[in-house]
Amino acid sequence: MRIGVLCSRIRAEEKLLFEAFTRRRLTIEKVDDRQLVFDLAAQPRRFDVVLERCLAGVPSPRTLIAFTPESALEAIETLGYPVVLKPAIGSWGRLLAKISDRDAAEALLEHKDTLGSYQHAIFYIQEYVDKPSRDIRSFVVGDETICAIYRESSHWITNTARGGQARNCPVTPEIDRLSRAAARAVGGGVLAIDLLEHPDGLVVSEVNYTMEFRNSIDTTGVDIPGRIVDYVLRVGALEAVPA
Ligand SMILES: Nc1ncnc2c1ncn2[C@@H]1O[C@H](COP(=O)(O)OP(=O)(O)O)[C@@H](O)[C@H]1O
Ligand SMILES: [Mg+2]
Repeated sequence: MRIGVLCSRIRAEEKLLFEAFTRRRLTIEKVDDRQLVFDLAAQPRRFDVVLERCLAGVPSPRTLIAFTPESALEAIETLGYPVVLKPAIGSWGRLLAKISDRDAAEALLEHKDTLGSYQHAIFYIQEYVDKPSRDIRSFVVGDETICAIYRESSHWITNTARGGQARNCPVTPEIDRLSRAAARAVGGGVLAIDLLEHPDGLVVSEVNYTMEFRNSIDTTGVDIPGRIVDYVLRVGALEAVPA
């Protein structure tokens, strides 16, 4: 059997995997995704199976995680004001806080500590990205970025659930590359990616599953539910077991 291992940086895990293959007297071929070029005219299948161990390298806002109010305050001061505190899991822009000074940080941390549920014991602290008054929401289906929207708002939280206005956003090569890399990093499928226009370039702020898309069909002119159904049928056909 011809086994390929697709990888970028060789970490401890990749070394352990290579050793495990060797112990079973299996020869593998390492394929470095940083040097990989596909020739469409060449033989399509060099391998019988490929193990994927790539690093996605998705740029994201600087984020620190702390587990006590004291260490959270230290982390906030390390990042510098303003910072954003987020729930570890959330949606519709709920429970996000932009903290502009130490007084606000102390008050918020005390409230979370005293009134919050167990989930709020995880302090997710992120640099505030000084973006234009919008963010970008892209839609990935399989390995394709099918469309994207700008969500414009005078508020720094731009979710449409919070009044953000959707407008078509052309899928640039950078939006496409980052969106697909972010989707791949979490296993792919049908996902929506939130991107922020950081002064240094685009960053991925969030990956959403079971996303909403009602506001994005007419806005982009892309039949999002239709594209999802196509994808389901493609995957179903690949996985189908002959009767
Ligand atoms: N670090 C940040 N800097 C600036 N704006 C942010 C930041 N994080 C989130 N936002 C804004 O808040 C919105 C909601 O944040 P997000 O993390 O996507 O939470 P939710 O899961 O509630 O959508 C984003 O779409 C963006 O407009
Ligand atoms: Mg979001």
